[in-house]
Amino acid sequence: MRHVMSPLDFSTEELDQLLDLANDIEKDPEKYAHACEGKRLATLFYEPSTRTRLSFEAAMMALGGKVLGFSSADSSSASKGESVADTIRTVSCFAHIAAIRHPKEGAPLVASMASKIPVINAGDGGHQHPTQTLTDLLTIRSLKGRLNNLTIGLCGDLKFGRTVHSLIEALVRYENVKFILISPEELRVPSYIRDDVLRANHKDFQEVIRLEDALPQLDLLYMTRVQRERFFNEEDYVRMKDFYILDKAKMDLAPDHMLVLHPLPRVNEISVEVDSDPRAAYFKQVQYGMYVRMALILTLLEVKVC
Ligand code: NCD
Repeated sequence: MRHVMSPLDFSTEELDQLLDLANDIEKDPEKYAHACEGKRLATLFYEPSTRTRLSFEAAMMALGGKVLGFSSADSSSASKGESVADTIRTVSCFAHIAAIRHPKEGAPLVASMASKIPVINAGDGGHQHPTQTLTDLLTIRSLKGRLNNLTIGLCGDLKFGRTVHSLIEALVRYENVKFILISPEELRVPSYIRDDVLRANHKDFQEVIRLEDALPQLDLLYMTRVQRERFFNEEDYVRMKDFYILDKAKMDLAPDHMLVLHPLPRVNEISVEVDSDPRAAYFKQVQYGMYVRMALILTLLEVKVC
């Protein structure tokens, strides 16, 4: 039985197979419509979510399976003091696979150790978000045709943004990927990402403050929101929240081939006027998120479709 805690739980060959499967599902969804009949997915969300939870649920339904779960800690026995280990032991009796989002780093890992069914980390605090990374990789590979030879700018809250941490960990494994890390001083990537991931893999990276300076060099711009819920005080959040706003004028500085990605939700960091720019790919990214989660569920449940 296999759990997914980080994108590194898959080799690059396995990732290629997973993304190939997702592309095949996109081409011919009918072929997969009954693949998970009789199977149940549990979504255990101790933190708010729109895309991740609903795309997991839509993915399981599109495979002919069923879903159950909760969407806030308040509506589960966590509010009575139950541990994640006891909750997953219980859920193992009802479901065949589970996706867990939790505000505490490592909570899905603790759950996986007590689980009888595959557990997927659907976001743990400011740590990792591997299924968003699968979504990002599928989007990049489908729209750019490659995962190597790319200059990617990651912009915004690089300290608390778990999607950024997972994406960097995944992309350092590809040839000639350069990173431009764009953030205010206070929101730079954590030192383990800088030292143990980027430097340890001898990756070319720069840290800059001005988005305008980076834009002309980029093949991809990955925008992120400032993670309000992880700040210790509201004043710091208010000072940081509008540090970057991508608008039409800034898009004029970017190459025609640059794609804009964002895990969403967006707050102010991308102006709505950018949505109609052909380079804006963040809503296509949402659609890819469902296909890749379908591929992931099939892979973890070892369901083969011929
Ligand atoms: C992200 C998350 O939850 O980390 N959202 C998502 O899953 N698509 C990004 C965010 O909340 O900013």
